[in-house]
Amino acid sequence: MLSWDEYDDAVETPEPVKSAVQETVKAEAPVAEKAVAPATKVDTILEQAVAPAVEKPAAEVNTAAQATAAQISNDPVSAAKDAIKNIDSTAGIEELEMGADRVQVDQKAMINCRADLNQLVPFKYDWAWQKYLDGCANHWMPQEVNMTADIALWKSKDGLSEDERRIIMRSLGYFSTADSLVANNLVLAIYRLITNPECRQYILRQAFEEAIHTHAYQYCIESLGMDEGEVFNMYREVPSVANKATWSINHTQGISDPTFTTGTPETDQELLRNLIGFYAVTEGIFFYCGFTQILSMGRRNKMTGVAEQFQYILRDESMHLNFGIDIINQIKLENPHLWSAEFQQEVTQMVLEGTELEIAYARDTMPRGVLGMNAAMMEEYLQFIANRRLAQLGLKEQYPGAKNPFPWMSEIMDLRKEKNFFETRVIEYQTGGALSWD
Ligand SMILES: [Fe+2]
Ligand SMILES: [Fe+2]
Repeated sequence: MLSWDEYDDAVETPEPVKSAVQETVKAEAPVAEKAVAPATKVDTILEQAVAPAVEKPAAEVNTAAQATAAQISNDPVSAAKDAIKNIDSTAGIEELEMGADRVQVDQKAMINCRADLNQLVPFKYDWAWQKYLDGCANHWMPQEVNMTADIALWKSKDGLSEDERRIIMRSLGYFSTADSLVANNLVLAIYRLITNPECRQYILRQAFEEAIHTHAYQYCIESLGMDEGEVFNMYREVPSVANKATWSINHTQGISDPTFTTGTPETDQELLRNLIGFYAVTEGIFFYCGFTQILSMGRRNKMTGVAEQFQYILRDESMHLNFGIDIINQIKLENPHLWSAEFQQEVTQMVLEGTELEIAYARDTMPRGVLGMNAAMMEEYLQFIANRRLAQLGLKEQYPGAKNPFPWMSEIMDLRKEKNFFETRVIEYQTGGALSWD
């Protein structure tokens, strides 16, 4: 982080002004360097995402930059006026199968739509627009949560048990990178394949919320003075954390290739696999053991700042999950041939794999009973959650009779029912009056 002292230094010794051409070359260089020999799966995904920029012929880029520089150097104002005289306003329209007319509601579709995606209205999926409005009305920022009591408790010798410390470390270890995986999947894989502007509007809102979540975890880690390298690299080092992260990454790879397109039953199913892997399993199952543990800690008046951050994140996440389920079900509705018996079986197994990985994480993080819960209770809770995810996707429940041992969790997800759980400060974040907490 830049301190005020460093800021002053930076102001006193300004960088020499460079030309636009120099800046362009400088900006492109690191991208080209990064494209060499990715070391890991995560790196591979990121490299694939920047590939088009690298592939663009260097000569073409340089020529355009040099021409612009020449125009600017002679008479910048005249050059700008000349440049806009012959703008072709029909450019790009040939890519739209439905021409350049005003968009009609019945032309809109969740995937493989060729109508103009820049025209937000008329709305077809009102639920997506409503979720965008609700997300905006629930805006919050991590640094507004008071962490003073948490810092004192974390630094005290006997304020927390070893088991409680283990839970906090593991939670921050998993979540500090998990939300980046989700955000990367949203913007690098899902966004361009969901061909509906109101859904894209929500995806953009969600992507920003994922950035806020990663910020919140970083803020907790920094406030508590943890070893940042240890926490952020836990998703590669601790098996119960790494297995979950790897499962999520594996479900990104199919569609993160920039040349991937939908349009065949196989590729459309590949997109569905990704959506189910991220929305229903990663955000719908992998978050629940850690959230329950930290919120249980908050209910016992321990680490209340961290718990408050998690509470706001959980509220956002439950909206992400519901949006994902709506998108998946809408794609099923519009493309019933994709939801074959065989594919349903595959999706069921994905949900069960996620559940088993989360149960393994529960056992690793709770070798003994702690905070009024234990691994066996968490196992039943996760089976209850898995049944709900399967039902939401229109699939058969696989853990008959699983009950919810933590009914207070569903209350927290809906702050309207328990607005005084920590504080009533949420009211301060209502900006548009879209939600009423009474
Ligand atoms: Fe998140
Ligand atoms: Fe999320």
